[in-house]
Amino acid sequence: MLGVYLSGTGNTKHCIEKLVKMLDQSAKVIPLENKNVISEINSHDTIILGYPTQFSNAPIMVRDFIKANDIWKDKRILCVTTMGAFSGDGAGCTARILKRKGAIILGGLQIHMPDSVCDSKLLKKSVEENRRIVIEADKKIEKTVCNIHNGKYPKEGISFFSHILGLFGQRLWFYNKTSHYSDKLKISNNCIGCGLCSQICPMNNIEINNKRAVAGKKCTMCYRCISCCPQKAITLIGDNVYEQCQFSKYMDSYNE
Ligand SMILES: Cc1cc2nc3c(=O)[nH]c(=O)nc-3n(C[C@H](O)[C@H](O)[C@H](O)COP(=O)(O)O)c2cc1C
Ligand code: SF4
Ligand code: SF4
Repeated sequence: MLGVYLSGTGNTKHCIEKLVKMLDQSAKVIPLENKNVISEINSHDTIILGYPTQFSNAPIMVRDFIKANDIWKDKRILCVTTMGAFSGDGAGCTARILKRKGAIILGGLQIHMPDSVCDSKLLKKSVEENRRIVIEADKKIEKTVCNIHNGKYPKEGISFFSHILGLFGQRLWFYNKTSHYSDKLKISNNCIGCGLCSQICPMNNIEINNKRAVAGKKCTMCYRCISCCPQKAITLIGDNVYEQCQFSKYMDSYNE
């Protein structure tokens, strides 16, 4: 078994690591941007694939990766998505592409986690509320593991009904936001050229030029740079960073 994930603010990383390690203590879990990801997928039969829901869709980096690589035939795949509020068929969005590529879809799992959109006030919760959300998510993962051990995979987001729900509930209205990489990343004069954003971007979409970060046109909207910039200098959907969302923020103090 292999866990592969894309994660901007740490939610999906946490969920996939917990799920995979509970299913198989010795299994590897790697981020999608790992340079060995293709050879790792090639050498495993069962893959747990995780990513955040974006506008009721899978991030374009994840969809492109699946489409671009002919490595899926006969792989047994559980599609897992994390979401801030609603995802009709977030898991189904990759399951359908993978199926066309010859994969065997074991199931779909959609996990409610804290919202990651740092530059929007919508859906923002207190640290305490976010912590409660994570605790519920952990319980859901534990229950899922029990069911899988009994041979029952979750089927969330992969039915025809979920497809219609995701499509008409949100995806159609926001289709233009997820159909291509974004060139809308904004970097303010507060940037001090520290280079952190450039080092952590999974798309290598940011360069440092003359001690200033400069964004390219291949942003997969993961919000990793926005949630980490020490100067709160980066925005995408909104114009102000209200709260930098990071999984560790809600859970580190809890675990201490
Ligand atoms: C650009 C963008 C769009 C999003 N769209 C949705 C959405 O349609 N529905 C939802 O429930 N959450 C949505 N979210 C919230 C994330 O799916 C959620 O916070 C997720 O757990 C983040 O995971 P990560 O920390 O692994 O990146 C969106 C987040 C981003 C950055
Ligand atoms: S992380 Fe922020 S301050 Fe550092 S280079 Fe990037 S935009 Fe500038
Ligand atoms: S530019 Fe920022 S938001 Fe866009 S893909 Fe890179 S890290 Fe993610």
